[in-house]
Amino acid sequence: MLNNSKWISYPTKEDYTCPVFRRKFAVSKKIKKATLKITSLGCYYAELNGSRIGDFILAPGWTYYKRTQMQTYDITNMIKNENEIKATLSSGWFNGRINIRTRKELPDVYPALICEIEIIYSDNTKEYIYSDEGWECALSKITFSDIYDGESYDATYEEKFIPVKIQNYNEFKIVNQQGVFVKEQEIVYPRSIFKTPKGETVIDFGQNMTGYFEIDLDAKRGDKVSLSVAEVLDRDGNFYTENYRSAKAKFDYICDDGHQVYKPKLCFWGFRYIRVDCFPCEVTKSNIKAIVLHSDLKRTGYLNSSSPLLNKLFSNIIWGQKGNFLDIPTDCPQRDERLGWTGDAQVFIKTASYNYDVEKFFDKWLEDLRLEQKREGLIPFCIPQVHDRPGSSTAVWSDASTVCPWQIYLTYANKKILARQFKSMCDYVDEIGRITKEKYLWYGCWHFGDWLGLDAPAGSYKGSSNPDIIATIFYAYSVSLVIKAGKVLGKNVSKYERLHSKILENGRKKFNEFNTQTECAIALYFDFAQDKKAVADKLASLIIENGKRLKTGFVGTPYLLHALSENGYTELAYDLLLQENYPSWLYSVKQGATTIWEHWDGVNDKGEFWSKDMNSFNHYAYGSVADWVYGVACGIKTVDEKPGFEEVIIAPKPTKKLKWLSAKIETRKGTVSSAWFNEGDKFRYEITTPSKATIIIDGKEFCVEKGSYVF
Ligand code: BGC
Repeated sequence: MLNNSKWISYPTKEDYTCPVFRRKFAVSKKIKKATLKITSLGCYYAELNGSRIGDFILAPGWTYYKRTQMQTYDITNMIKNENEIKATLSSGWFNGRINIRTRKELPDVYPALICEIEIIYSDNTKEYIYSDEGWECALSKITFSDIYDGESYDATYEEKFIPVKIQNYNEFKIVNQQGVFVKEQEIVYPRSIFKTPKGETVIDFGQNMTGYFEIDLDAKRGDKVSLSVAEVLDRDGNFYTENYRSAKAKFDYICDDGHQVYKPKLCFWGFRYIRVDCFPCEVTKSNIKAIVLHSDLKRTGYLNSSSPLLNKLFSNIIWGQKGNFLDIPTDCPQRDERLGWTGDAQVFIKTASYNYDVEKFFDKWLEDLRLEQKREGLIPFCIPQVHDRPGSSTAVWSDASTVCPWQIYLTYANKKILARQFKSMCDYVDEIGRITKEKYLWYGCWHFGDWLGLDAPAGSYKGSSNPDIIATIFYAYSVSLVIKAGKVLGKNVSKYERLHSKILENGRKKFNEFNTQTECAIALYFDFAQDKKAVADKLASLIIENGKRLKTGFVGTPYLLHALSENGYTELAYDLLLQENYPSWLYSVKQGATTIWEHWDGVNDKGEFWSKDMNSFNHYAYGSVADWVYGVACGIKTVDEKPGFEEVIIAPKPTKKLKWLSAKIETRKGTVSSAWFNEGDKFRYEITTPSKATIIIDGKEFCVEKGSYVF
């Protein structure tokens, strides 16, 4: 691919400055078609004759560091007689501050560009323009750019062009675009502009989001604009950025004369507020607007209810997904992380795949997971891997390698991805067998544990659930997914069937007491507990003793309501869902959240922050509760043997605590929806299925064909 083109770079390695590359070319005959094929190490912004080419923001996206996706753009209508193609390049994800690994492993690799223009004339002759010695480069008006730290732009800067350097970067594999383009999605106008008690001028957009902003102003040459971003204000109403940690998240701009409109080209921020540190005039609402960025996914899922607080939670879950599905599934979009943390993606993928069509999105990420997997089966903490050491496989996080392909199979019936990932799934569970300190358990290894569980000992981020119990239960779970996937693919899985029963046998002998909410929840949900009734009663009493409130972290939270409702405690599950006091989902809503918080206690009831280090206000993990609303409260379930909603089970579990609740998913087979209404002493159900379904109402089964039904 791009075999006749050469990798070109600026002659010296300029950390965090952005070179621009250009090539002039003339066209004398009538054109039938012109195409640009392009990719880079770093992120590029390409223009032809002053207009942006394509709408992929932060192209070519973020992949395993040894491969890069090539984009193909139809530029037929942009070609004139005299042309100038330009591309500006940042270090971006490739070797900006975010990527410790490439900065360490590949210190001599520069951000670089490679491309080809193909022109087909009306007489069917062809002409090619390749990236090569014929190009020039300069340091661009973007004088600083970094994913974490933001952008500086100098509109007065004169670019001085010099010859490019040719680089021999054949070690990087160029592949066709596999993922989903990141695009501008929505414009958010300022809600208010006000002065904080400290005297700062702050713009509030009313919504925490991921993206950038566009400034629009009249100025004199040399005037300065300087803006900072934040997600929240502190207790006193002042601008608060400590939770961004080392990410500077700033925008600086030096104006030219006259009217100017500018938006950053090669970075993004997670923010709701902007502080105006410097502006040539008094800022008004017409000087700025925010632009939401995310991968261009089709919305497919909708939840709605009679409770305004619950509806706000549903909206926050959607915004959490929008904010963190930016080319890869990230943990958060604001601080110095924004990484493809595997655990976060794993716990949220079911919800994600109902809310949006994420099949293609995960196709790319899972391919990278497979490529990042070490020979011995180890799955690094983040995909793409950015840490200089990959760490070790860790329960719940590394299980992304089995859970994600299986969920994509269930939601979209995609057997191809399952087949491609199958070896990776097997390698992962095989590795556990080698690293465990006790056979047939996952025992004695390092784990994140029930990350951010509220029962964490003081000074720790790890909840007090026993990491060996979590790890062993997830070991069994992942092996069970290998078995299911293997059967779908026609593989011999008898080895894994034996392994699975051994893990259960040994695990159950070793761990027969469950003492925390998380331990009980996962022991129930993953069918590990033998005396389910006793464990469910214990879980219920732990929750009731805690004032009908949860204590779970990243591991227990996604399964907590499921474990309750599957074991006779549906009303208690609703109590947790509808709980408004801390800690609960609706607590953050009542505190004014517009996205999902990383920590139940992001802001406590005294208005203080629980921590400055681990306090993102846009972390989707706890938004995984939506899969309980879709799948249990409204009862829409996939069927393992008939994936992709070819057959559906719809078994709603209503409550008198709400007047009504509804869920709708636009599946590949058509719309499936389930709503119930509390009508005095009876419930009314309205159900639509796109395919054959088993509807279960009050324990009674109705086998129906595609259609709409009222009970
Ligand atoms: C991230 C998480 C991640 C975790 C690992 C954090 O810093 O933000 O969401 O999963 O580290 O425990």
